[in-house]
Amino acid sequence: VRLGQGEVALAAPGAVPAASGRTLTILYGTETGNSTELAKALAAAAAGRGLSAEVVDMANYKPRRLKEEQDVLVVVSTYGEGDPPQPAVGFFEFIEGHKAPKLDGVRFTVLALGDSTYEFYCEAGKRLDRRFEELGAKRLLPRVDCDIDYEEPAAAWSAEIVDLLAAELAELPAQASPFAAVPVAAAASAYDKRNPFEAKIIDNIVIVGRGSSKETRHIELDLDGSGLSYEPGDAVGIVARNDPAAVGALIEAAGLAADAPVTIKSETKTLGEALERNYEIMIASPRFIDQWAGLSGAAELERLRAPENAKERLAFLEGHHVVDIVRKFPLPGIDGAGLIAGLRPLQPRLYSIASSQAVTGDEVHITLAPVRYDLHGEGRSGVASAHLCDRIELGETLPVYIQANPHFRLPAGDAPIIMIGAGTGVAPYRAFLQQREADGHGGRSWLFFGERNFRSDFLYQIEWQSWLKEEVLTRMDVAFSRDRADKTYVQHRMLERAADFYAWLEEGAHVYVCGDATHMAPDVHDTLIRIVESQSGGGRDAAEDYVRKLQADHRYQRDVY
Ligand code: 2AM
Repeated sequence: VRLGQGEVALAAPGAVPAASGRTLTILYGTETGNSTELAKALAAAAAGRGLSAEVVDMANYKPRRLKEEQDVLVVVSTYGEGDPPQPAVGFFEFIEGHKAPKLDGVRFTVLALGDSTYEFYCEAGKRLDRRFEELGAKRLLPRVDCDIDYEEPAAAWSAEIVDLLAAELAELPAQASPFAAVPVAAAASAYDKRNPFEAKIIDNIVIVGRGSSKETRHIELDLDGSGLSYEPGDAVGIVARNDPAAVGALIEAAGLAADAPVTIKSETKTLGEALERNYEIMIASPRFIDQWAGLSGAAELERLRAPENAKERLAFLEGHHVVDIVRKFPLPGIDGAGLIAGLRPLQPRLYSIASSQAVTGDEVHITLAPVRYDLHGEGRSGVASAHLCDRIELGETLPVYIQANPHFRLPAGDAPIIMIGAGTGVAPYRAFLQQREADGHGGRSWLFFGERNFRSDFLYQIEWQSWLKEEVLTRMDVAFSRDRADKTYVQHRMLERAADFYAWLEEGAHVYVCGDATHMAPDVHDTLIRIVESQSGGGRDAAEDYVRKLQADHRYQRDVY
């Protein structure tokens, strides 16, 4: 196991007796790794106080263990419409289903991660919190819900629960003397999310042809000297900065000066710098509405603030960035501190890696489709899109780190793989095939790729064709949605090949889906069930079970955004 900086070695499977005489399990559900990191940090903090905990990913949790649990600390994030992380779906189905055992002897607490600009904020955590209680478990601490800037509330929750359990331990008679689990910190690289590496941009080219409706780019970054390493399936986190023009517009709307001093965590800098580097200044959150309503007293904002108007509030936020709210509800006399008080910290942007180190060494490649749109008659751009496409030259650097994604991995050995990707979702498959070519594995592979137009948008066309020729790639089906009047998507191609698709599944194929989470991934999921249903002849329920089993066996993995 390759351990990242500050990570702890996970305890061996099976119940681990905690020093208190009760077992302690830290159960996490994650898609992008935040919960993993928090769970491991919690285990390390617990170990420091003599509490030995086992850290378990919900993706690997054996449901029948549940009734033997004693103390369970849950860290879980939410996706989409209040959904659990995809690898945790099986765990949710079990615990929320009628086969879940009574949990009378269990104590628990939940740390729920989410994003307050979504309707079902922290819903996955809320569901588990409710369910543990319904099953008879006793709540050790109230649930804590965290927004995208989860670090502080998460640290407070961790400290409180560790204090509580450590205090119980101290009450125990001496013979139950505590033994500390020793955290093994392996310094794989000195760089991580909190301490990103300044990576040089070594290539940045538009890879769609003339006339394309997109501006998709292939970008190469140099990790030389960082000690950073990654595996196919991992992502790179880019710490981008806000567009100075957008910062300027916001400062002007607020009637402030860019060089006005502001203090952030006891560090003084200019307002301009703070807005460029530290805060999300495009999409506003409910917290900003709250804060701006409080300062302005504007009736419309007050109404949007009310819990019963949550739907309307989210619709309003879709049509109003921070600058639009500041313009619509001006607050003459506000200072820099007042402007930033309701803003959320700027988050790094994650990109699926399009390369394998077996081929590219110290380089990391990504495929980026810039986000650009109009709002209130003005052009607006995504933070990292604008930074990487409009404001950085070859040879310049930007801060990056590696975000491991253990839920998107090539199978060991020669198992067949089916890769489904639309648009930039094809990126990790380039990494997969580079890796397979380098390893010389003979496993069969099948790519489904979808984009708008064949002539301009066939991303990495030459590479796929050469892999086909060399038989690193066994089959490829493409769906170009805007070449004809009727839309053809990857799932239509899957259906046309249903018999072969099912045969591959029966032969042990691993299925990957990467790209759009809102429409593509659910449609592909449904198609997968339809294929199994039509080919197995076993009915819809059996087909759903089949796909669930694929997920539970880690043979159906998604990287969707
Ligand atoms: P469209 O833009 O013509 O609708 C990458 O963006 C590709 O994914 C495009 O061809 C896009 O088609 C397509 N796409 C859009 N919605 C999709 C869906 N629900 N399922 C699969 N592909 C989709």
